[in-house]
Amino acid sequence: MNEEALLAIVEESDLPLLVVLTGAGISAESGLKTFRDADGLWENHPVHEVASIDGWHANPELVLEFYNQRRAQLMTVAANAGHHALKALEAKYLVVVITQNVDDLHERAGSTHIVHLHGELRKVRTVVDADWTDDIGGAPIRLGDRGPDGTQLRPHIVWFGEEVPLLPLAARITSRAEVLLVVGTSLAVYPAASLIDYAPADCPKYYVDPRPASIHGIRNLEVIAEAAGTGLPKLAERLMA
Ligand code: APR
Repeated sequence: MNEEALLAIVEESDLPLLVVLTGAGISAESGLKTFRDADGLWENHPVHEVASIDGWHANPELVLEFYNQRRAQLMTVAANAGHHALKALEAKYLVVVITQNVDDLHERAGSTHIVHLHGELRKVRTVVDADWTDDIGGAPIRLGDRGPDGTQLRPHIVWFGEEVPLLPLAARITSRAEVLLVVGTSLAVYPAASLIDYAPADCPKYYVDPRPASIHGIRNLEVIAEAAGTGLPKLAERLMA
């Protein structure tokens, strides 16, 4: 869905707006590793080696292979109870999921409105054109594979050192939130982590994470120190009551 269409839905809906900011932790119980749980290594690689624009320029073959493995792995996992609980909330709320995750588990759980701040693992773009994308499912990208503009394909991922093009949209939506959920994120990566500051002060906020980061200066915040797979279904039940 394009940005204008999503904003129009947010502005026109009669349902209360519930915004969810998710990070790697919501997919942990599906079997996908988080980033900051293992000494700064992501699946045995220093994050900057495989997930930065500098890493890409230094060794594109390694980066392609790394994401090829992640894409193949994605085909073997499934959405969990946390993702499904967010879908269930659509019965009472206009739910917009703003995710830092590049997996498609929110889509597979059926969530309707999803903003992928950091891109999407299943999709490719070219090195010069971030607006053209193609869904390749679990297939690999090889050096020499080219897009319609004749340049090398790369993962449709926002790497460290790159702009986050959907941030203004995410900030606008978050600033209208009537309920905010923050799930499974260490809030260590900016600008995504700054989104929480855009939510209105009087909006009730819930942070579900078994090892929550300390958050200061945010009003109306309840921290639920629990895994998403158990904490979110319980929270959804409360929010639906
Ligand atoms: N349920 C909920 N949260 C969990 C679970 C679980 N079962 N297991 C772990 N977590 C929490 C951890 O306690 C931690 O706070 O998930 C969080 C994962 O934090 P990070 O690994 O830092 O992931 P994230 O916040 O999504 O990272 C942001 O960093 O590398 C970049 O672009 C990448 O989008 C990513 C960004």
